[in-house]
Amino acid sequence: MTTLAPSLEALIRQLPKAELHLHLEGSIQPELALSLARKHGVSLPGALEGLEGLRRRYRYGSFEDFLSLYLAISECLVVAGDFTAIAVDLARALAAQNVRYAEVTVTPMTHVARGVPGEVVLEGLAEGRARALREHGVELAWVFDIVRNLTQQAEPTLALALRGREQGVIGLGLSGPEQAEWPREHYASIFARARDGGLHSLPHSGEFCGPEGIWDSLRWLGAERLGHGVRCLEERALVEHLVEHRIPLEVCPSSNTALHVCPSFEQHPLPRLMEAGLAVSLASDDPPLFSTTLTDEYLRCAAAFHWTEATVLSLASAAVEHSFLPEPRKRELLTTQRTVAERLRTGG
Ligand code: ADE
Ligand code: ZN
Repeated sequence: MTTLAPSLEALIRQLPKAELHLHLEGSIQPELALSLARKHGVSLPGALEGLEGLRRRYRYGSFEDFLSLYLAISECLVVAGDFTAIAVDLARALAAQNVRYAEVTVTPMTHVARGVPGEVVLEGLAEGRARALREHGVELAWVFDIVRNLTQQAEPTLALALRGREQGVIGLGLSGPEQAEWPREHYASIFARARDGGLHSLPHSGEFCGPEGIWDSLRWLGAERLGHGVRCLEERALVEHLVEHRIPLEVCPSSNTALHVCPSFEQHPLPRLMEAGLAVSLASDDPPLFSTTLTDEYLRCAAAFHWTEATVLSLASAAVEHSFLPEPRKRELLTTQRTVAERLRTGG
C-alpha cells in the first residue's frame, strides 16, 4: 500500500467525523462476541479454537456466508445489558477514531424472533445510547432495519421503530438479500407510515442489485439516502436523477470488496461516483467483520485514490451534511472540522 503523507494521515485521524452506515450487530468486536457467547452458552463458528478461530471465519465466499456469521453473532445478544454493552463498546471504538456522531442500523426483529422481548431491546439500546454520550462523548442515532426476506417482520419492526422515536430512532432501513422475490413495492405502505411518523427512509440498495432496485427504493420507499447505491453507475439516467435530487450514497469500500461487489479495493467505483457529481460519504458497514474502521476507510481510499487533504475534508463534511443531525448540531460539527483542519495546516 502507498504510504501516506504524515500530514494527511494526521488529518484523517484527528478530524471529528460522522458515520452514516454501520450495523450495531456487525460492530461487535470478536473479543466481546466471544465473551457474550460464553455467557449465554451460544456456539460461534470457529470459536472452539478461540479468538483466532473466530477471526478466521471473517472471510466470505458470498453474501449468504457473511449473513450466516452475522446471524450467529446476533444470537449472543439476550438480555438488555448485552445491547447496552455492545452500544457502549461501539462508542468507545468510535471515540478512538474521533467519530462524534453515528447513525447506527439495528435489526430488532432478529432478536425478537429468538424470544428477546422488543421492550428489552429498546431498554438496552436506550441505556447504551445514554452511556455512549456520557462516557465517550459519542452521539448515536438508531435506524431500525427490516430484513427483506423476513416479510412478516416488517410490521413489528415499524411498530418498534415508532415506539423508539423518543429514544433516538430516526429512520427505517431495509437490508438483507436484494433478490426480486422480495420486491420493494411490498414495503411501500410500511415506509409511507414510517415517513408519516417522522422516520427517515434509509434502505440498502444498489449493493447486490442494479439500477432497477434503486429506482424501486426511490419510487416505493421514498429513499432519502441509499445504503451503498454503488451500482447506480450502470445507468446514466439514474445517476443524473440522483445528482439532480441530491440523494446521497453511503459508500463502504471495504465491505464491497469483502462481499465481492467489486473485484478489489483499488477497483472500487468510488472515484467514478465522485466524478459523476454524486453526493457520497464514507462508511464501514460492519467494521470488525470486514477488518476495517471508518478511519481505515479514509486511509485506504486516500492511498488507493491519491486523495488530497481537500478531498478528505470534503468527504468528512459531506457525512455531516447528509446526516439527520439537527441543523445547529450540524453547523457546530462542521465548524469543529474546519477548526481542526486549519490547526493542523498551520501547525498551531
Ligand atoms: N446486513 C449487514 N450488512 C449488510 C450489507 N452489507 N448488506 C445487506 N445487509 C446487511
Ligand atoms: Zn449495511
